[in-house]
Amino acid sequence: MNRDYFRKYMNSDRARANKSGLSFLKAAMIVLMLSTIAFVTVASQEKETEDKAAGQESQLSTEQLAKAKELFIEKCARCHGADGRGQTVLGEMLLVPDFTDAKWWKDKNTENAELAKIIANGKGEMPAFEKKLSRSEIANLISYLRRFSKSSEAKAEH
Ligand code: HEC
Repeated sequence: MNRDYFRKYMNSDRARANKSGLSFLKAAMIVLMLSTIAFVTVASQEKETEDKAAGQESQLSTEQLAKAKELFIEKCARCHGADGRGQTVLGEMLLVPDFTDAKWWKDKNTENAELAKIIANGKGEMPAFEKKLSRSEIANLISYLRRFSKSSEAKAEH
């Protein structure tokens, strides 16, 4: 009788142990899944802030630079010219600024945030790009534009 009771007790305990082992596995899997999702989310957010910071510091990675150039050629060059001088039919008609002119940048003295607004909302004959470009694309384009004047400065020195 006593022995029977003991065996029963052992069995039920083992059963319980098995069960809790299973639910532990389930819980571990859920935790693993959630942390994977969290990690992916954080990683993509970090990338976004990196993108923003890069735009403001005017330091673009080779990849970002290539992308900005591509965007500039695709969306801006018909007026501003691939070389940024604005010597295109449209550019001369609409009187676009010469982005290689260091003096223009100096006189302009406009902050990136202000330029971003102009590109997003348009100005005079220049169309708005708010719906066509993301914030980080605009930020990278601004860094790209500022490089036009640097390259002309470099040329002037030689
Ligand atoms: C349809 C022609 C056209 C296109 C396309 C165009 N622009 Fe312009 N852009 C202009 C004109 C015209 C001005 C001068 C606006 C003014 O001062 O009234 C200008 C001025 C600017 C300025 C100087 C703003 C200032 O404060 O004077 C920036 C910066 C600029 N464009 C960036 C861009 C970028 C970046 C793109 C592409 C995403 C682009 N533009 C596409 C016509 C264009």
